[in-house]
Amino acid sequence: MAYSDKVLDHVENPRNVGAFDKNDPTVATGMVGAPACGDVMKLQLKISDEGIIEDAKFKTYGCGSAIASSSLVTEWVKGKTLDQAAEIKNTDITAELELPPVKIHCSILAEDAIKAAIEDYKNKH
Ligand code: FES
Ligand code: FES
Repeated sequence: MAYSDKVLDHVENPRNVGAFDKNDPTVATGMVGAPACGDVMKLQLKISDEGIIEDAKFKTYGCGSAIASSSLVTEWVKGKTLDQAAEIKNTDITAELELPPVKIHCSILAEDAIKAAIEDYKNKH
């Protein structure tokens, strides 16, 4: 299966790979897995006192589409409020990365990771 140029770009140059301290109260951590394939994605958001996502990092153990989806959302969430980040849809990711139907669940993983991170932040505060 051929990946789009955009997916390949993110796989070859993933943005914002890494981790923050999950116990830091300004850090939100979303950890999700895809039952379809067993891939795992961890997305972390660093949130300012004003509720703005200042930084984001990810670690994804999975296919190229999952890596590209998580890399892309780390770029998209920066500067957004949590409510704005919650509006990012897997369909936006699919469209941007030109993912084929069999790879849609990879983009859903990224949407779920954002939601899980927001949930974690709400539980912490
Ligand atoms: Fe193999 Fe996702 S199914 S990496
Ligand atoms: Fe499962 Fe991509 S194949 S996340």
